[in-house]
Amino acid sequence: MLEALNPQPQDKILQLIALFRDDPRQAKIDLGVGVYKDATGLTPVMRAVKAAEKKLWETETTKTYTALAGEPAYNAAMVQMILGSGYADRAASVATPGGTGAIRQALELIRMASPAAKVWMSNPTWPNHPSIVKYLGMPSAEYRYFDSASGGVDFAGLMADLDGVAAGDAVLLHGCCHNPTGANLDLAQWAQVLDLLAARGAIPFVDLAYQGFGDGLEEDAAATRMVAARFPEVLIAASCSKNFGVYRERTGILIALTSPDRKAVVQGNLNYLNRQNYSFPPDHGARLVTMILEDAALTADWKAELEDVRLNMLSLRQQLADELRRATNSDRFDFVARHRGMFSRLGLTEAQVATLREVHGIYMVGDSRINIAGLNAKTVPILAAAIAQVLA
Ligand code: LMR
Repeated sequence: MLEALNPQPQDKILQLIALFRDDPRQAKIDLGVGVYKDATGLTPVMRAVKAAEKKLWETETTKTYTALAGEPAYNAAMVQMILGSGYADRAASVATPGGTGAIRQALELIRMASPAAKVWMSNPTWPNHPSIVKYLGMPSAEYRYFDSASGGVDFAGLMADLDGVAAGDAVLLHGCCHNPTGANLDLAQWAQVLDLLAARGAIPFVDLAYQGFGDGLEEDAAATRMVAARFPEVLIAASCSKNFGVYRERTGILIALTSPDRKAVVQGNLNYLNRQNYSFPPDHGARLVTMILEDAALTADWKAELEDVRLNMLSLRQQLADELRRATNSDRFDFVARHRGMFSRLGLTEAQVATLREVHGIYMVGDSRINIAGLNAKTVPILAAAIAQVLA
């Protein structure tokens, strides 16, 4: 049987991990997978997470099963963090293994509810989005998103393409910190997009994987909150991997907003999907997140550390934009300072990306997406000089 299997294409982001690891050069620079690193190259366990783990070790008395949808306290704390108050009667939710688990469950829910619904995704988007949609055999479409000339959003192209959305189609939107481009809609543009989607009868599906990495914890939720306030049905897939730094613990949530009278049925379907796919969701990361969000002192410390992380990335953005100005003698990369989140797409060719890797030992995704957090004050000028060299 197994001889019938075909080789699968490697994930373009994850394959960089092995390539980088196997590169013997000392001065190599990893700007690949989206993992936060401090100035020493370490992905730290956040202080509040460490404190919660200690407390958990001391107080946890059982590892018996938790609830199929996840601990209610986790789901409530996450709904509060993402949406604020006022959604208890509309929000069905399940804890999931990371943001990817939430995306997968959301897509399966869409497919169960409406097999003909198209899933609209930005071009470009996180490569795993179209990969899972294709794996599930769902119809899909793309909308333009990025203007590589300006490094900003191709807003006219986006609006023209989303004009083709049909009633009941799901439109996947990055709630903040667009991956891979780093270019984001402002709130006025969000309002226009939402007007259009409401007129078309679309179902917004928000991927929120970087809350707190862009303009701030509250600010990064603003667009998602606009969507939630406006639409009767909304899907939100959120991840704690980045903002709590609990990557390997697989901590995410799928929230499905519906009407109060449909909530029990929607919740039942979410529970059913959890049971089919993995039964109970992972608990350790979710429990740590809950302990942090339910404790004022831990929350304050977590927010302070998250803010340091965010400001460090903003500072690296400005340093890189300044260095690229100097090195290329042009303003063509000024957009790096305007982008938000971990990523910026630089607009280099695949060949230039390959030269950066092979000649300079600088690793980025093939579409020229860099992870800003992979840089530090020492490597910013090295990257800028290498880019200037490949462009020359
Ligand atoms: C990324 O885009 O690099 C991260 O979301 C990690 C991943 O799983 O791809």
